Amino acid sequence: MGHRGVTVWFTGLSASGKTTVANLVDQLLTARGIHCMILDGDNIRRGLNRDLGFSPQDRAENIRRIGEVAKLLTQAGIVNLVAFISPYRRDRDQARSLQENGDFIEVYLDSPVEVCEARDPRGLYRKARAGEIPEFTGVSAPYEAPLKPELVLYTASETPEESAQRVVAYLEKHGYLAAP
Ligand code: ADX
Repeated sequence: MGHRGVTVWFTGLSASGKTTVANLVDQLLTARGIHCMILDGDNIRRGLNRDLGFSPQDRAENIRRIGEVAKLLTQAGIVNLVAFISPYRRDRDQARSLQENGDFIEVYLDSPVEVCEARDPRGLYRKARAGEIPEFTGVSAPYEAPLKPELVLYTASETPEESAQRVVAYLEKHGYLAAP
């Protein structure tokens, strides 16, 4: 295919821009003939993981399964763009540990909860504040920011296009888009 497989693991609060940025990265890479796959709530939580909710245990299992799928996609030579809150450091580290060194890139979407809450595209923060959604990340459940992410995107001050360009630039700079 002229490139290697890699997991690009986006983590951040709900409405921090994970899926938006992942979709833009997908477009940029696909235009260059790079084989990509997005894993997000739409294709995973509605299917493979539809038995799981949002307790800490279920979130851990959600991320465990996604980590295993991401590993398979990397082995298949696909640039897999993984977009889940993945709030627990331990679960993300576990997903990282499944893969070879360098095959897992953690991208932290650093956006204050106030900004995510002001966006509130699906009204979920409002419902969470009203007590209608228990254990909502950033409101009534924790988010543990990465300690050593490969890349930080400041999605409150960058446009999604700028963030996506920065991801592609990182992949390029570190040789992920060149023939192995
Ligand atoms: S994760 O914590 O297990 O990684 P995931 O990314 O799959 O979460 O799903 C998060 C999405 O589910 C949110 O963007 C929101 O649309 C929805 N959601 C529903 N309930 C919750 C909740 N209690 N906490 C966070 N997100 C929730």
